[in-house]
Amino acid sequence: MNDQESRTPQFSRTVAIASGKGGVGKSTVAVNVAIAIAQHGNAVGLLDADVYGPNCHMMMGVKSLPPPQGKTIVPAMVHGVKVISMGLLVGENQPLAWRGPMLHSAIKQFVGDVDWGDLDYLIVDLPPGTGDAQLSISQILSLTGSFIVTLPQAVSLADARRGLELFKQLHVPVLGIVENMSYLVMPNGERLDVFGQGGGEQLAKDTGVDFIGNIPLDPEVRVGGDTGNPIVISQPESQAAISLLDIADAIARISTTQAEAQQSSSIPIEIVE
Ligand SMILES: Nc1ncnc2c1ncn2[C@@H]1O[C@H](COP(=O)(O)OP(=O)(O)OP(=O)(O)O)[C@@H](O)[C@H]1O
Ligand SMILES: [Mg+2]
Repeated sequence: MNDQESRTPQFSRTVAIASGKGGVGKSTVAVNVAIAIAQHGNAVGLLDADVYGPNCHMMMGVKSLPPPQGKTIVPAMVHGVKVISMGLLVGENQPLAWRGPMLHSAIKQFVGDVDWGDLDYLIVDLPPGTGDAQLSISQILSLTGSFIVTLPQAVSLADARRGLELFKQLHVPVLGIVENMSYLVMPNGERLDVFGQGGGEQLAKDTGVDFIGNIPLDPEVRVGGDTGNPIVISQPESQAAISLLDIADAIARISTTQAEAQQSSSIPIEIVE
């Protein structure tokens, strides 16, 4: 193995998509954002860290991984994104129970034993809650930051806030809040606020974190996820896709600024004589 091959891959920006609450659209956002950022010519990886209920592979339309190279796991390459998910390593219907140390070593393997190559962005899809996966990922990866997904409703906001505060405690910068399922446009053109209104912006105000956009409810988003043909590809002209593309641009821009700030603060000052 030459020096080139044995070099640790570099991830320029590592971005976690998180929420204390389940079912709010973390995986949907992670998948569509990863694709959208890759469409701009970036090298992008998508790490599905939801080892309890992995979904990213299905949402990306991946059924299997390429054969491993020795002990190195080779990620699937789909829609321009390198993807790794526990769902690709275990049987389809196999329930996954993880104790903390096992989960930690599984996530460590996903980072260290995968042939990611150098990446401009590694997008990490987290499971819901404030548990072992969140702790492990922030210990294993030097995260550029996290983005919190919430619905507009009070219950979701409370859970999202718990997730947000956990990252603050772990010294992971919380870089933005995304509100999903913000409204539904009815066939007569009326807007229905299915889950209430304005909660994401309120959370942003309360926590001092930037609000970076909202995504409407659209059955086509769900269809895109179920069929492995995410909406930014299947219906890029739809409002939901436009919102996701804008959110992807914001995530790319904000995490780039943050990564540059982190880098410059960690570079020792060179004294010119
Ligand atoms: N804007 C949307 N419009 C319609 N359906 C959506 C939207 N966002 C997500 N969904 C659907 O809602 C369901 C839950 O979304 P998703 O799996 O992304 O949430 P999650 O937060 O990752 O869930 P979990 O906590 O279980 O990991 C999926 O079926 C998805 O396709
Ligand atoms: Mg998910």
